[in-house]
Amino acid sequence: MSLVITIDGPAASGKSSVSREVASHLGWSWVSTGAFYRGLAYFAKAKGIALESEEDLVEACKSDSWKVHLSAEKTLVFCDGKDVTESIYSDAVGTVASQVSQFPKVRKELLQAQRNCAYGVNLIAEGRDCGTVVFPEADLKFYITASGKNRAQRRAIEEGKSVAEVQESQTVRDQQDTQRKSAPLQIPENAHVVDTSDMDLQQVVRAVEEKVKDTLSL
Ligand code: DC
Repeated sequence: MSLVITIDGPAASGKSSVSREVASHLGWSWVSTGAFYRGLAYFAKAKGIALESEEDLVEACKSDSWKVHLSAEKTLVFCDGKDVTESIYSDAVGTVASQVSQFPKVRKELLQAQRNCAYGVNLIAEGRDCGTVVFPEADLKFYITASGKNRAQRRAIEEGKSVAEVQESQTVRDQQDTQRKSAPLQIPENAHVVDTSDMDLQQVVRAVEEKVKDTLSL
């Protein structure tokens, strides 16, 4: 049986960076489940699929013209055979991903592929509903957060935008992700909550790894 650790949290809370580092130290795989929603958003936009049509989006989920691949560095997305990973991690695609992730049938359609990421490997899965829906039986769960301003500052540097602009779009996204009916972002039961507002990446990684070593006896 493979081991699974989940890391949930709001936009730009550092989930991917922490997952990548901890997975690398443990020699595990990791997946950003947001890549499934970002990949769908990218594909739907590229093909002119109506973003408000749940049925059309479900069909788009089934298309084999786009795919998610795990790698040590990033969760990759390919569309029509082309690596579009760099494009999907923009704030703009994140906003559309949040929109398409509201639909229950879309979530259901993408669920099995996310679960399959744990097939035959030990996995760190990060996202919004990893500890509640994707891997409710996970061996260890984290909820990583930081103040809105802090998160916006981090992303603004990455995206070369103003903090105010990024914070505004993150606030909309956080509201959509926490208030949707289907699998909203919430703190999973028994999750360890880490507020990273006053921590740098290495401090968060150490905090997570200590808990992993204590709990899983690794
Ligand atoms: O983690 P991220 O920023 O890459 O996620 C992009 C969007 O995808 C997020 O705003 C909501 C959606 N998402 C989701 O609904 N469930 C997940 N497990 C991961 C992401």
